[in-house]
Amino acid sequence: MDQGIGDRFQQETKYQRGKLPAGHLDWSKKPDRYKVYPRAKKIKLEPPQREGGTPFWKTIERRRSCRAFGERPLSREALSQLLWASQGVTKTDKDFELRAAPSAGALYPIETYLAALNVDGIEPGLYHYDVRPHELELLKPGDFRESAACAALDQDFMAEAGAVFIWAAMFERTKWKYKQRAYRYIYLDTGQIAQNLALAAVSLGLGSCQIGALYDDEVNALLDIDGDEESVVYMTAVGMLQE
Ligand SMILES: Cc1cc2nc3c(=O)[nH]c(=O)nc-3n(C[C@H](O)[C@H](O)[C@H](O)COP(=O)(O)O)c2cc1C
Repeated sequence: MDQGIGDRFQQETKYQRGKLPAGHLDWSKKPDRYKVYPRAKKIKLEPPQREGGTPFWKTIERRRSCRAFGERPLSREALSQLLWASQGVTKTDKDFELRAAPSAGALYPIETYLAALNVDGIEPGLYHYDVRPHELELLKPGDFRESAACAALDQDFMAEAGAVFIWAAMFERTKWKYKQRAYRYIYLDTGQIAQNLALAAVSLGLGSCQIGALYDDEVNALLDIDGDEESVVYMTAVGMLQE
């Protein structure tokens, strides 16, 4: 059978008994766990709620991909809740923050960016989520409805969303420990985050759709990330349900 790069990747990154990769962790080279834009305007988000929402089993049952959104804006409170539920800090252990979604080796390779398209009280634009203080950092103000949809393989419905979550991987954070197998973990990590977001959206009475079909370098260009050390992996559009 003709072996493509995906087939080779799957084979060559297997763990096999007795053949585990040797090596030690070079702690002097451990990458930073957080990316921060120190000069960006900061938007403090509402404290997340720990109670309420749709009951869990109903939430699971009601999750569907939603590709048509209502016109009303998302609330700031809902946006805050979605960011926390997908990537927020849920526990601090000594000086180490653990997040809402699990991550291989607790290395947290994923950065969250947000295209705020129609959010009450949030200026439209591109933002980065600063995890520890639970703040948004404004990267570029502007109307990104069309560019977000175009970069997602021209999926026009995205322009009607309230916000588009864009997850980018900083590969070295996980490669530092897991070498080439890190790519498996990074994609799995992103799926965990996206599922948390999808369920949180249902719990808040919102709709969401995962987006894997995207022009990687077009999204990277929007975010001003290099596509090499850091690259988009996945996105999710979230918005109000149609009335
Ligand atoms: C990895 C992944 C990528 C996806 N990419 C897209 C996408 O680009 N556009 C889209 O409309 N739906 C996308 N979806 C949603 C699937 O089409 C959807 O989950 C599937 O049809 C099952 O429907 P349900 O989510 O309503 O249960 C994606 C789902 C996953 C898990």
